[in-house]
Order: sequence, then C-alpha cells, then structure tokens
Amino acid sequence: MAPNQNLKWKTAFFTMAGWALACTASTAWSQAYPTKPITLVVPFAAGGPTDVVARTLGAAMTRTLGQTVVVENKTGAGGTIAAAYTARATPDGYTFLIHHNGMATAPALYRKLNYKPLADFDYVSQVIDVPMTVVGRKDLPAKDFKELMAYAKANGDKINLAHAGLGAVSHLCGVLLRQAMGVSMTTVPYQGTGPAMNALLAGQVDLLCDQTTSTTPYIKAGSIKLYGVTTASRLKTLPDTPTLAEQGLKDFQVVVWHGIYAPKGTPKEAVDKFGAALRTALKDPAVAQRLAELGAIVPPDAKLTPAGLQSWLQQESARYEPVIKAAGQFAD
Ligand code: MLT
Repeated sequence: MAPNQNLKWKTAFFTMAGWALACTASTAWSQAYPTKPITLVVPFAAGGPTDVVARTLGAAMTRTLGQTVVVENKTGAGGTIAAAYTARATPDGYTFLIHHNGMATAPALYRKLNYKPLADFDYVSQVIDVPMTVVGRKDLPAKDFKELMAYAKANGDKINLAHAGLGAVSHLCGVLLRQAMGVSMTTVPYQGTGPAMNALLAGQVDLLCDQTTSTTPYIKAGSIKLYGVTTASRLKTLPDTPTLAEQGLKDFQVVVWHGIYAPKGTPKEAVDKFGAALRTALKDPAVAQRLAELGAIVPPDAKLTPAGLQSWLQQESARYEPVIKAAGQFAD
C-alpha cells in the first residue's frame, strides 16, 4: 500500500473509532443521567404561584428521575436575576429555569438586560397556563367590583397595589387594571407575590393581582376579597365570580403561561429526559387534580415540547415589545 493510502486508512480508522467511542460515551451518559440532584431555579419568592407550580411538579419529577429536583428561589428584578443566573450556569443538565411571561416582556422593560431570552437558552417545554384574580384585603370597604371602582376613584393614590416587581405578571396585570379602571393607585413591589400575599393578609396593602395557583386557597378560606377573574370566561373553580370584562373592563384578559429553559448548550439527552419527566408529572392524577383545583390549565401536548415553547416565546416577545415600548415603561 502506498504510504499516502496507508495514512488515509489509518485516519479513517481512528476517526471511526473516535466516533464510536463518543457515541458509547454519550449513550452511557444519557443512560446514567441524572446522577445528582437537579436545580430548578424559580425567579420569585417561596410561597408564590411560580414556586407552588415548581414544587408540585418538582416532587413528581423527582420520582421519575430518581434524583431530587431542588427548587432554588433566586429573587429580584422581576425575574431577570434568575434568568441571567441560569443563562450563565454550566450547561451540564443540572440547572433549569421555570419562568413565565416575564421571559417575553423583560427585553422591552429593561434597558440593560445581561442575557438574551431568545438566544441564551435551550427550550424544554411549556408547563402550565394560569388565570389571574384581582383580590383585596379582607376588610377593604368594597364588597364587589362596582364598589371597588367607586372606592378607587375616591381614594386614588392612597390605595396600595402590591406586585412582584417590574416584569412580574402581577405588575403587568396591576398596571393594566389601573389603566382600565382609569384610577391612580400606588404600586408596592415585593420579591414575589408570596410575600405580597402575606402583606395583603396582614392588611398592609389593599389590592393584588395574582395567579389562582396562589390565591385560590385564601379565597376559599375567606381570608381575602375576590373582585374578578382576568380570563375571557368564568373559571370552573370559581364559577360565581364574574370576569373583569363582564364587569365593564372590556377585553381585559391576562393569562400567565410558563416555560422551562436550560442554559444554551445543555446536552440534548438531559433536555429530553427532563422534558419527559415534566410531561409524566403533568399526567400524574394527583398532580393534575391539585393543579386543576388551583385553576391551572395544562396546555395541549404540542406546546409541551421544546419547539412549542420556542415558537410561543418568539410570538409573545413580538407581541409585547411594541405594546411596552409604546407605554414607555423602562427600568435601568
Ligand atoms: C410569583 O411567583 O411570585 C409570581 O409569579 C410573581 C409575578 O407576579 O410575576
């Protein structure tokens, strides 16, 4: 064999051997994964709606994955601190982020954002859709939405509307509510609607726009007042409560969607396994019942995929950007 020919054969042999070795290593890696606890980053405080969803699903996913899904609350700046943290985490399949509409609104809301929602992550799946409710402290002197409107008109800035920071859905919903009602209220930021709800229960703030996954138990216990739901039609779980649209706020609609993301470059095997565990958790009868009782809606199967989340985030980012820029709401 000519020396050149010999070299070509040797190169081909080593390339194939290297490829086979890589395939075996990758198969072994994916079969073994996960070998240690997985962190699910939550961008808001413990006890709030994102935390409730993450812990409910995380417990069920732990059973499927055979390793603990550890919820880590990384709060602040309307969820952007957690998103930036995840974008920079090692892409090894052991860090994921659950986030909501804030992933789409942040680029328009924050002038300086040190991550790119559409470029810096791998997509795992959409998770759950959650309606919102407008709730007030128990002793607020307005028994229904009509009375709340009159009370808000009479008291304006004296009314404290709690929220979870710029980029939080409670902030978005609160600002839209204020605009739609044509009243001024003072907004009060917290690290999540978990602490905002504690302030409402303690009577330290007057109003809060929050997800049913957080408010439902307090509404059912009668510890807060409920003024309306933010969906197009009434909720099965709160059938006697009119929508805000029914009560005069035409077209008022805010529904919170959630997605799970991984740092860009996470092994596909890890993304697939985490996504599969999520889909199993959503179908677990006990989990499904708990989420349904809290008013949450599981999206159709096509959305519970990486492509389903990616195209939804693209659509939502394009939808929010002009609206937010036109409203001129920025943070530095
Ligand atoms: C939370 O989990 O505290 C909420 O999702 C915050 C928010 O209102 O966006």
